[in-house]
Amino acid sequence: MTPTLRTMSLDDYDALIDLLRRTPGVTFRDADSREATGRYLARNPDLSFLAYCEGALAGCVMSGHDGRRGYLQHLAVLPAFRRRGIANALVDRCLSELERLGIQKCHIDVLRGNPSGAAYWESQGWQLRTDIHRYSLTRHGGADA
Ligand SMILES: CC(C)(COP(=O)(O)OP(=O)(O)OC[C@H]1O[C@@H](n2cnc3c(N)ncnc32)[C@H](O)[C@@H]1OP(=O)(O)O)[C@@H](O)C(=O)NCCC(=O)NCCS
Repeated sequence: MTPTLRTMSLDDYDALIDLLRRTPGVTFRDADSREATGRYLARNPDLSFLAYCEGALAGCVMSGHDGRRGYLQHLAVLPAFRRRGIANALVDRCLSELERLGIQKCHIDVLRGNPSGAAYWESQGWQLRTDIHRYSLTRHGGADA
């Protein structure tokens, strides 16, 4: 079944959060607040998408770039809609839109506690980086920044 993809806007925020909360394995941060999500969507217009199947919200993905590299986040498909190609359709749309903007290479962070998510990316040819460590610093805010 081919899902219908729709560009995400801030009006979709409540539906997005509800979908993510119903997806086991997804974690939330302060960066997922309505305000931060609005900022992200404004900085990265038309690069985040919702997938619908038979009118029902089935999946989502957010993407953006820094001018050099693309970044995907919050790829999630509700369990009832899995293995129908929805994740692939969402990711492909992001990569196509990013490529249109000149971004050829994308990164995705996958929590070590999410082997099933990792298996998905690997199955689609994404390369596990063993040559870099990611360092993070939180200047303000708590552990959930
Ligand atoms: C990972 C996830 C997004 C996949 O969504 P999906 O819509 O079922 O994926 P697709 O149907 O597009 O899968 C396409 C192909 O990817 C592979 N694949 C999909 N899920 C996989 C998994 N969990 N493990 C290994 N390979 C997987 C298969 O080859 C599949 O093709 P097939 O069904 O013909 O065998 C979904 O399982 C999910 O939401 N998981 C929880 C959230 C998550 O982990 N997100 C990614 C974290 S960064």
